[in-house]
Amino acid sequence: MTRLRITRLHPSLGAEVAGVELDKPIDETTCQTLERALADHLALVFRDQSLTPAQYLAAAAVFGPPMEQHYSQHNMPGFHLIGLIWHRNGQQPAEQWHTDHTNRERPPAATILYGVEIPSAGGGTSVANMRAAYVALPADERRRLESLKTFNGLDGHADTRQEDQEKYGKPIEHPMVRTHPVHGTRAVYFHISKATHIGGMTPEASKAFMRSLLDRVIQPGIIYHHEWRKGDVLIIDNRATMHRAHGDYDRSQSRVLWRIIVEGDRPRLS
Ligand SMILES: [Fe+2]
Repeated sequence: MTRLRITRLHPSLGAEVAGVELDKPIDETTCQTLERALADHLALVFRDQSLTPAQYLAAAAVFGPPMEQHYSQHNMPGFHLIGLIWHRNGQQPAEQWHTDHTNRERPPAATILYGVEIPSAGGGTSVANMRAAYVALPADERRRLESLKTFNGLDGHADTRQEDQEKYGKPIEHPMVRTHPVHGTRAVYFHISKATHIGGMTPEASKAFMRSLLDRVIQPGIIYHHEWRKGDVLIIDNRATMHRAHGDYDRSQSRVLWRIIVEGDRPRLS
């Protein structure tokens, strides 16, 4: 058996994991090592994987129970817990910094992406370390953020079906700073377009506040940029990062990612 090896990819976050084949059952010790590695490094990359949908779901479950996504129109036929990210489905790349599915009471601990078809250039995914973003804020601003809550839903998401709106569009409150349940540290936590407003602020003032925060805190030094290779599995810790897609690729080429989100805890500040 090959030994598990973890190699940093960037000074702030991101690590490559070698010696684990995701198409095989993963033992309990390895599961615990991977859970800890995700909390420490916030983005894990596994190269050269070759997975069936069922194998992919089994591997994802190491990080939590796979949960339903609210873009059910993009679910893989026969595997409703895998979402297809594919521009030929009419999808736009999510180019704004965000963390996934904050409209859920227990948002996904991790988003897992598997590169099935990759364009020859561009189309990367960037991940920002929001734990580092929190630490870099002045103390008075950290205190202010710790006192704020966002209210999240699916308002303005015209690309969600009525049935998904009904199931997942009810207002959900989250702290703007959350404590990581495994790592114990704090991170800035919000989704600018899922948050309808911040408690005590108008929707307009809330958006302007979040916009300004993103512009200031997401600096190049806290970003890991993933250039996709076919067969990559990228696991993103949603509890302490934000991510964005890059639409800078030739649309005559195909870019297909399989996405699984796994349920996490209810965000809390402690
Ligand atoms: Fe996302």
